[in-house]
Amino acid sequence: MASTNSKSPETKPSGSAFTGKMGYVMAAAASAVGLGNIWRFPYLCAKYGGGIFLVVYLILVFTFGYALLMSETAIGRMTGKSPIGAFKQFSNTKASAFGGWMNAIVPFIICPYYAVIGGWVVKYLVGYCTGETQAMAVDGYFGGYISSNLQPELFFIIFVLLTLVVILGGVQNGVEKVSRIMMPVLIILAVVVSIYSCTRPGAIDGIKYMFIPNIHNFSMMTIVSAMGQMFYSLSLAMGIMITYGSYVDKNQDLEDSTTKIEFFDTLVAVLAGLMIIPAVFAFSGGDPDTLNAGPSLMFVTIPKVLVSMGFGTPAGIVFFLLVFLAALTSAISLTETCVGTLTDELGWGRAKSTLIFGTYAILLGSLASLGYGALGNLKIIGMQVLDFLDFISNSVMMPISALAICILVTRCIGLKTMADEFERNSKFKRKPIYNFSMKYLAPVALIIILISSVLSAFGIISI
Ligand code: TRP
Repeated sequence: MASTNSKSPETKPSGSAFTGKMGYVMAAAASAVGLGNIWRFPYLCAKYGGGIFLVVYLILVFTFGYALLMSETAIGRMTGKSPIGAFKQFSNTKASAFGGWMNAIVPFIICPYYAVIGGWVVKYLVGYCTGETQAMAVDGYFGGYISSNLQPELFFIIFVLLTLVVILGGVQNGVEKVSRIMMPVLIILAVVVSIYSCTRPGAIDGIKYMFIPNIHNFSMMTIVSAMGQMFYSLSLAMGIMITYGSYVDKNQDLEDSTTKIEFFDTLVAVLAGLMIIPAVFAFSGGDPDTLNAGPSLMFVTIPKVLVSMGFGTPAGIVFFLLVFLAALTSAISLTETCVGTLTDELGWGRAKSTLIFGTYAILLGSLASLGYGALGNLKIIGMQVLDFLDFISNSVMMPISALAICILVTRCIGLKTMADEFERNSKFKRKPIYNFSMKYLAPVALIIILISSVLSAFGIISI
């Protein structure tokens, strides 16, 4: 979920700061927790190796993710600007302008397909409200649904319009408040459902698959996808945290806040994994096709769990309502970011930017939505449109953005200046990890990842 309340960057009068320490932590955590945790993490973990994926993911989050989150927030706090301006301030070269733009463009690619998944969530919410609980749990239901063209497209447009209405109506505040109250409810429900999933006969194999690393399941794709997921889940490498950082007051302990945000985000992802992965084993016997289901995994498994719980209809309504709110607030924040870039850089008015962006999102998102039906033959480097948008943003553009941030930090700002910024009001405990990540781990990992994901996309190597 993303913050767009009165404390959020977009609606705040310039110069003021998040109120108190928890203001920023809550806003950033709310931006971090969304479909990425509940929908994306479990399917990637299932597909790319289970336990070994989890280990790689955790290592990345607590080294590189930590360093990047710290850096972005500090850059924002030092400059008080959004990414394009912040990059310009430290270096006036073409390369750095490119880095700033790369960060700003990523949300433009993510937002349209985020709304397509949002539309799937709305459909399931409506489905539970109208008592289709049994039908939705039948094998093949979801595949049939997304290839049916009209309905998925309609629900996708409804989701985009809801987002735009909230933004144009200026009622983000209300939505944000509701979703903040619902957040703890989501966690409680996730705990209940995951306990239920994990105690089904056969689920133990799923728990083992998720927690015990098996080196045979490792591939280069494990690292590529874990890193993409880290960016996505923590909302990194897209300028968001730079913008948030520009509103954090100078007395705040950045390291402490960063740790809290990472912890919370990872907790929700692991809980979502525990709801879904053991259920794959309990309800489909660990069928490799189901494990590899990709974007459809949550929509295929959760309905089966719900039906078997006995009170599936009310639980389904609550679950999908919560996921819907998480998705809506994230979509609002993603849209706000894009609209902000358009108003700042092109000088368009707010209403104009919002409407033009909305039209663009509907056009691009429609290609993704219809990519499972009418446009089934439209493949970009062998991928369906939605998969392609997800790949190009998470596995190609975000590594480039992250690399730009590393270079900015190590070459233009300097690790010493960064350390001074972190040490303003507290001890910089993980300084060695930070310096090592920014100087060595990140650039090397990013370059390897970029090259291998691009080569594999073009079928030159298989990873
Ligand atoms: N991190 C969010 C999630 O896990 C998705 C996301 C990526 C996002 N970038 C964002 C949300 C920017 C809000 C703003 O679902």
